[in-house]
Amino acid sequence: MDYQPSHRHLQDRVILVTGAGQGIGKTAALTFAAQGATVILLGRKVKKLEAVYDEIEAAGNPQPLIFPLNLENASEENFNAMAEGIFQQLGRLDGILHNASRFDNLSPLEIQTAEQFNGMLQTNLVAPFALTRACLPLLKRAPDASVIFTSTTAAHHPAAFWGAHAIAKSAAETLVKIWAQELETFPNIRINIVIPGAVQCPQRKRSHPGEIHENLPAAAAIMPLYLYLMGHDSIGVNGQMFEAQKSPEE
Ligand SMILES: NC(=O)c1ccc[n+]([C@@H]2O[C@H](COP(=O)([O-])OP(=O)(O)OC[C@H]3O[C@@H](n4cnc5c(N)ncnc54)[C@H](OP(=O)(O)O)[C@@H]3O)[C@@H](O)[C@H]2O)c1
Repeated sequence: MDYQPSHRHLQDRVILVTGAGQGIGKTAALTFAAQGATVILLGRKVKKLEAVYDEIEAAGNPQPLIFPLNLENASEENFNAMAEGIFQQLGRLDGILHNASRFDNLSPLEIQTAEQFNGMLQTNLVAPFALTRACLPLLKRAPDASVIFTSTTAAHHPAAFWGAHAIAKSAAETLVKIWAQELETFPNIRINIVIPGAVQCPQRKRSHPGEIHENLPAAAAIMPLYLYLMGHDSIGVNGQMFEAQKSPEE
């Protein structure tokens, strides 16, 4: 997407990014902070989140918050406590980027255990649902709030070996479309889907082992779409799916 945000486009906004320790999530967190947002960095590995925190601070951008959480085991109580913590510490929430995802490897369903299957549904579908639900009271209070779910073309073209990862992403897209309609009575909240396309990130090396990773664009190349959806210019855009790149095919 060819989009030029205005200076300090996300000034004073509070944005939660899941999977903020590496890959697209890390780049999004740094990008949002550089545009003035206070970013809440969620992930499992504190060291990686701390490195992102340090980078944001060193750049002189708003001090972020670190929220270590394993989405796979998180309960409704954990999500509610997190929302309460955000309210107590920051008083507001203007956006959520659901970016974290579990992808084990390409394998036939026949050898995928129910435990693995469940883990992928939990991380890629149930947790983003429960987290959004817990944060809804905060989002409803925001002047304009944006929720982004991250999907993949594998959700649209079911292919052998993509298993529960693709199934969960496909269901998450359905969830967004249902929720977008239900939230029409709250015009200050929008919820949309982003398909990043092929970018250099650790997960990509495992999902596409035959690719020359270095030839792919860096995550920074797809940030204009993320900035557009997280900022005021996308007010009123709801229930839509956006591809950050038209090509190459995933
Ligand atoms: N890269 C691509 O080409 C591509 C293409 C299509 C779609 N996507 C989608 O874009 C998103 C980001 O992809 P990526 O390539 O940047 O992935 P990545 O490098 O593997 O990063 C995934 C992130 O998710 C976090 N995560 C995984 N399981 C978690 C859990 N149980 N609890 C909390 N955090 C968890 C990881 O953090 P910790 O390790 O710290 O927990 C990590 O920061 C994903 O939704 C992916 O499906 C990517």
